Amino acid sequence: MALRELVTGLAKAELHLHLEGTLEPELAFALAARNGVSLPYAGVAALRRAYDFADLQSFLDLYYACMAVLRTAEDFRDLAAAYLDRARADGVVRAEVFFDPQEHTARGVPLAEVVAGLSRAAQESVAAGGPQVAFIACAVRHRGPAEALAMVESLEPHVGTVVGLGLDSTERGHPPRDYARAFDAARGLGLRTVAHAGEEGPPAYVWEALDVLGVERVDHGVRCVEDAALVRRLAADGTPLTVCPLSNVRLRVVDDLRDHPLPRLLDAGVRVTLNSDDPAYFGGYVADNYVACAEAFGWSEADLTALARASLDSVLR
Ligand code: ADE
Ligand code: ZN
Repeated sequence: MALRELVTGLAKAELHLHLEGTLEPELAFALAARNGVSLPYAGVAALRRAYDFADLQSFLDLYYACMAVLRTAEDFRDLAAAYLDRARADGVVRAEVFFDPQEHTARGVPLAEVVAGLSRAAQESVAAGGPQVAFIACAVRHRGPAEALAMVESLEPHVGTVVGLGLDSTERGHPPRDYARAFDAARGLGLRTVAHAGEEGPPAYVWEALDVLGVERVDHGVRCVEDAALVRRLAADGTPLTVCPLSNVRLRVVDDLRDHPLPRLLDAGVRVTLNSDDPAYFGGYVADNYVACAEAFGWSEADLTALARASLDSVLR
């Protein structure tokens, strides 16, 4: 069987996916026209040409700029529906989807409007036999701990549609420990917890995500390979890492996919899952990540099946 067919035929969960990172240029311009918003690019081709990132921050600047086109519940519904169609074709049966509430409320879009669109897309997906969906609201580090806490408090009426709190955006200079109060408040609301750590930030940030924030999964986490004790801890606890290989190449966390620490993490017994992060920007959806890794690392059908299984075993239940 061809590799792609094998991969798309494996039932899998996608656990590290930013909804706003699924905004393809064609949809961005369609929404810009619908809402009378202008984008700082001449058109689809010019926007795609700008996807040449030096690091996480250079990506985030463009990513936040493109979000300006998302204004109504219908926009969020359309964006989520497009992703879920795509995910279904990739064999995704469960998607745990991040979104950045503060980046929308800061532009005057009410949280209830965002959640209404997400909720509609999730219901339509299940009704159509597509992926089951849960949403994880992320606090954006660049807006600081006080705003993060206020955002968590604002989630209270939406608990149920929103099942978890995450932490994302600019990592360096924003240690997880700064967000302890927001994570405690989230648990008080019955939310589950995950956090980005060890993407560009040091292994110490992964330790803090585990020991100070008490997260159940670490998003990225790949810099844990620099700390043998941390790798042992992750393996012993069975803490999932939601790894995003093509993202790590595009954001220059690694120079080449063949240099990626994934094989070392697997050998050490760390529970790894494969995900796409921001697929519209990084050149691949979740199946593309499986295929690229299989080619780079010579993975067998059994290896790919084990990774898909690990993703299903790592969902928030
Ligand atoms: N927000 C969207 N993608 C992200 C990433 N890869 N790291 C941190 N924050 C993000
Ligand atoms: Zn991410």
